[in-house]
Amino acid sequence: MHTIGKILKTIREERGLQLRQVAIESNIDLTLLSRVENGKRMPSESLLIKLAETYGLDSNLLVLQLVSDKILEISEQYPDHTIEALKVAQEKARLGERYISFFMNSFISRPIGLESRRYIGNKTKLTDWIMETIRRECPEAHSFCDIFAGTGAVAGKAIPYYDQVIFNDLLCANRVIYQGFFEKGEWNRDKLCTILDEYNHTDYNSLEDNYFSINFGGKYFDYGVSKLIGYVRQNI
Ligand SMILES: C[S@@+](CC[C@H](N)C(=O)[O-])C[C@H]1O[C@@H](n2cnc3c(N)ncnc32)[C@H](O)[C@@H]1O
Repeated sequence: MHTIGKILKTIREERGLQLRQVAIESNIDLTLLSRVENGKRMPSESLLIKLAETYGLDSNLLVLQLVSDKILEISEQYPDHTIEALKVAQEKARLGERYISFFMNSFISRPIGLESRRYIGNKTKLTDWIMETIRRECPEAHSFCDIFAGTGAVAGKAIPYYDQVIFNDLLCANRVIYQGFFEKGEWNRDKLCTILDEYNHTDYNSLEDNYFSINFGGKYFDYGVSKLIGYVRQNI
């Protein structure tokens, strides 16, 4: 459904103007203007700006009619998706390039790897060798205990081979990670991804100094990154 042509014709007629008069005054081709009014052609933005000037109107008012007609045209092709697509378009306008990572995190199912945690001294790259060695040396074992489990990469690798796997670590944060990765339970992917996206796009220049940046900034981590780590850590 196109309304812009009819709207333009109604405006002209209410002002008592002939099509030819408007065409001359606006410097628009007469045939083109007639086709626009009859709904046979969609007007360009520049044509609407000229007409708005002739009619003494805010050009935004007319351009908005044009854009909404175009949206309607698309909605007729995809009637079941229009409303949702408008919301998505709004998100795209709000987030710009960031939308892509938001989309990938929120809607495309990707496993979040245990090893995606950066941990000094983690054995992720050695786990195959560690398991081969232990299984060769202790073929009768039924349980496995990872005393300083850290990321949990080693204990995680042992799960398929043993009846019982114990994760042990001093840090409470690590216990939470083990529960997150290895215990059964409900979780909300969208909620998690939204939080993740927010953290990934936090500008560390806007953050205050914190425990982590004061103690570790410029050592293992770049100063700005350490502020971000401290912020996320405290925020969680
Ligand atoms: C180098 S990391 C372990 C790396 C681990 N194998 C991995 O692949 O991720 C050392 C871990 O030992 C933990 N830890 C240190 N002292 C401990 C203690 N006395 N008891 C239990 N865990 C301890 C630390 O919290 C840290 O997570």
